[in-house]
Amino acid sequence: MSELNGPFSGGPTLNDGATMPWLGLGVWQTKDGEEVIQAVKTAVETGYRSIDTAAGYNNEEGVGQAIRECGVPRDELFITTKVRNPDQGYESTLKAFEVSRKKLGLDVIDLYLIHWPVKGKYRDTWKALIHLQKEGLVKSIGVSNFQVHHLQDIIDDTGVVPAVNQIEFHPLLTQREVLKFAKAHDIQVEAWSPLMQGNLELPLLKELAERYGKTVAQIVLRWDLQQGVITIPKSVHAERIVENAGFFDFTLSDDDVQAIEELNQNHRFGPDPDNFNF
Ligand SMILES: NC(=O)c1ccc[n+]([C@@H]2O[C@H](COP(=O)([O-])OP(=O)(O)OC[C@H]3O[C@@H](n4cnc5c(N)ncnc54)[C@H](OP(=O)(O)O)[C@@H]3O)[C@@H](O)[C@H]2O)c1
Repeated sequence: MSELNGPFSGGPTLNDGATMPWLGLGVWQTKDGEEVIQAVKTAVETGYRSIDTAAGYNNEEGVGQAIRECGVPRDELFITTKVRNPDQGYESTLKAFEVSRKKLGLDVIDLYLIHWPVKGKYRDTWKALIHLQKEGLVKSIGVSNFQVHHLQDIIDDTGVVPAVNQIEFHPLLTQREVLKFAKAHDIQVEAWSPLMQGNLELPLLKELAERYGKTVAQIVLRWDLQQGVITIPKSVHAERIVENAGFFDFTLSDDDVQAIEELNQNHRFGPDPDNFNF
């Protein structure tokens, strides 16, 4: 595990050769303007180098402003955004990408994701992402909320394996099938709602936090890391943004990693990727 103990630099190498940080700041439900600008700047000052936004979060402009003003060179930052469901399809994705790129004020996006596997659309959306990568406008392309059958479908259709699958992943939803498929196909898994949207009151997690002298959030984020899963906790509070970066300096025992895994209840805080209507 020693390679996982470095602080913010470095991270897993994606299947296209790019490096992505283990930790990023999530900005879903963070308001555009001052709130998102402050959150991103605080994160960058703390040492975060990765930011996860989406067209659907309506805060790409604020994220872009914070990137320009934060004082860290652009090539040291890793910026993710996503195409939202109503924009899916080939031509409409290309257009939506240009809108995101302008709002962020960036020449090149580090990672562009299909936000959800919209039936009848996601195959064409994936082809648009492949095109954007060929054009050099996106470094890495990936998906979000894809189940094994969705992944298999786009791989069979195009032969191009997504670099990343960003999925809901936390102690109550441990996603073994998706993780196994991802490992076999060299797809990097990234956890959304890693902190269970703030629902951290689980007795085992509290016991571990006490035993390791860490907070529950740090225990859960460390558990992500030890499974090779990238994590993107969201907070708008400076003290929590700092707290959520404090998991690189300790190691959970294998037994404790397993004990957390056994909390799984296949419980989703978000929608089911096989049954959503937006
Ligand atoms: N691809 C997708 O479909 C998808 C879906 C959902 C989320 N995401 C991404 O994943 C990111 C993270 O997921 P999320 O925002 O749903 O939830 P999360 O990171 O699991 O939890 C965020 C919630 O926990 C609170 N919190 C943060 N740090 C804490 C700490 N140390 N102790 C106690 N509470 C804490 C936050 O409150 P405060 O802000 O008030 O501190 C917020 O209410 C999102 O921001 C987004 O970038 C992607």
